Amino acid sequence: MFVVPEKFVRNAPHIAKHGPPVETGAWLLNYLARRLGRADLAGLDILDFGCGTRFTDTILNGNLPLNSYTGLDAWLEMINFLNAEAVPLDPRLSYYKLNMRNNYYDKAGTPPRKVTELPFPQDRTFDLACLFSVITHQNPTEATSIFRLIRKYIRPGGHMFFSADILDDVPLYREADENVPGCYSQYSYGALVQLLAMTGWQVVSFEKRENDSALILESLLCAPAPIGDTSASLGPPGCISALADVMAAITRLGQRV
Ligand SMILES: C[S@@+](CC[C@H](N)C(=O)[O-])C[C@H]1O[C@@H](n2cnc3c(N)ncnc32)[C@H](O)[C@@H]1O
Repeated sequence: MFVVPEKFVRNAPHIAKHGPPVETGAWLLNYLARRLGRADLAGLDILDFGCGTRFTDTILNGNLPLNSYTGLDAWLEMINFLNAEAVPLDPRLSYYKLNMRNNYYDKAGTPPRKVTELPFPQDRTFDLACLFSVITHQNPTEATSIFRLIRKYIRPGGHMFFSADILDDVPLYREADENVPGCYSQYSYGALVQLLAMTGWQVVSFEKRENDSALILESLLCAPAPIGDTSASLGPPGCISALADVMAAITRLGQRV
């Protein structure tokens, strides 16, 4: 059995109420498979951005089918643990420390817009990138850089899936706690769709959280699109904020990043 030390479990306290990481991870990966219209993730090469340890726990202890799982995270000590303890157990796994500044998790990292490559050989590509509880900790500059970067590594026909805190009363983007930027980053649906369009993605499907204690917040399944194409999947009329507003917000934030 693969055991994750408590210090490497970074899920929010309300998530723990749903069960141990191995179980919440299985539920989320099954949810992801369903969103892809599949029974499971068998055969897929998966990139997990902001991987934490939960899905490794599920893959190893829950015998999850997939072709390969590559985890990226800002936390070097945790990445070192996964490389030392998980990789020898399963050749499908690999982990890399990503050096990209994040307001909450990695203030010393490289400014997001300067990160143009992921830290593994350029010729690696994936069927699917997932970001669970990661965009919930990114300002628009950070989120845009992440979306743009991931786009380079997704195969034609592939997907990106992420959860986000999307609320009707958020005009574009806000930090729920201004004193702790990145702790709870919230978006409007329209702003996120624009950020996606600017970075070469279109929304395939969108689901809202089931209720306030749900295991996953809002989530978007996306597919590669021509970069800057804002004509696709813009959602219901009236929900899209002007691109100029999103850009202005990004520029303002960019000056602080
Ligand atoms: C709330 S945890 C979620 C972990 C995992 N995705 C899960 O659902 O169990 C957010 C993770 O994203 C990572 N993260 C956030 N921003 C990042 C960045 N810019 N680069 C790499 N990792 C980042 C954090 O280090 C943290 O492990």
